[in-house]
Amino acid sequence: MKKQKLDWENLEFKVYPTRSMWKGECEIGKTWSKGELITYGTVEMSPASSVLNYGQGVFEGMKAYHSAKDRIVLFRPDRNANRMVQSTQRLCIPAMKEGYFLKAVTETVKDNMDYIPPYGKGSMYIRPITFGMTPSISVGPALDYILIVFCSPVGSYFKSGVKPLHLLISSKFHRAAPKGIGNAKAIGNYSASLLPGSEAKSQGYNEVIYLKASNEDYVEEMGAANLFALSGKTLKTPRLGGSILPGVTRDSVIRIASEMLGLQVEEGDLHVDELLSADEVFCTGTAVVVTPIGKVTKDGKEHSIGNGGFGAVTKTLRKTLLSIQYEEIDDPFNWIFPI
Ligand SMILES: Cc1ncc(COP(=O)(O)O)c(C=O)c1O
Repeated sequence: MKKQKLDWENLEFKVYPTRSMWKGECEIGKTWSKGELITYGTVEMSPASSVLNYGQGVFEGMKAYHSAKDRIVLFRPDRNANRMVQSTQRLCIPAMKEGYFLKAVTETVKDNMDYIPPYGKGSMYIRPITFGMTPSISVGPALDYILIVFCSPVGSYFKSGVKPLHLLISSKFHRAAPKGIGNAKAIGNYSASLLPGSEAKSQGYNEVIYLKASNEDYVEEMGAANLFALSGKTLKTPRLGGSILPGVTRDSVIRIASEMLGLQVEEGDLHVDELLSADEVFCTGTAVVVTPIGKVTKDGKEHSIGNGGFGAVTKTLRKTLLSIQYEEIDDPFNWIFPI
């Protein structure tokens, strides 16, 4: 497969411009139907547009892989398509049919195939984003919307390889409120996590763990990843109660853990003490895959999780998931979507 001349050995997790991006348009009350690939570049909009003023925008994050079978594949893109439908509905953006979303994504990947890192060197991050364009001084849904799908080759999310993280449980900020927009991939959720994340990083932590706004005895998730805690043979993750993002990786790990590794998986209320006393804790997401959490600090007290290292089950889950994504082992779940 022909590739661009990029420094594949030293790819960072950042935006590398590619050849093209998809652009679709839709007016309120109509359906998303047309769209086309255009040269990758900037988008012009009014300073009064609803996305800039009222945060009316949602996005997705997914990856394309150059697999061990020497072909290009996506991982469960139907789940991203479905989440996009849920997110758009919550923010009054015309919902796009899953087929339209998948066409926009696959056309973008096909046209930028040579930017996908060779097998073993990384992956192609795909970012579909849709937002309101109409200029307005008063708060209200826009009348016209665009969908952009852009992509970028990426290396590992963590510069120095996967090492156990040290996280801070935030008692100062919440990420999402009950009945709010926490379960949508809304752009505003990420602006809310900027200050907590920056403060934690300036104090030497890798990221923040957010507590449930309605009961701070329970953990919810991180700014861009879901959480799991393993105690004995039981793997527990916070239930999707409306304020947690339903991660595609979360769902995949639940299935691998219960159906391939024989673990007992529970989706429920995850008490802070259960997390702090677990044998292994890890986070999941398209960017972080499965990443171990070695230390957690709460109210100034540092807690080591297990022996603070990369737990055996965490390692197996990460390896199994990556091996399915890169087609190194059989895909028993029918998750792989060849392009
Ligand atoms: C808030 C939040 N939680 C969880 C996740 C993990 O979701 P996924 O596994 O679909 O990437 C993300 C992904 O970006 C996220 O932004």
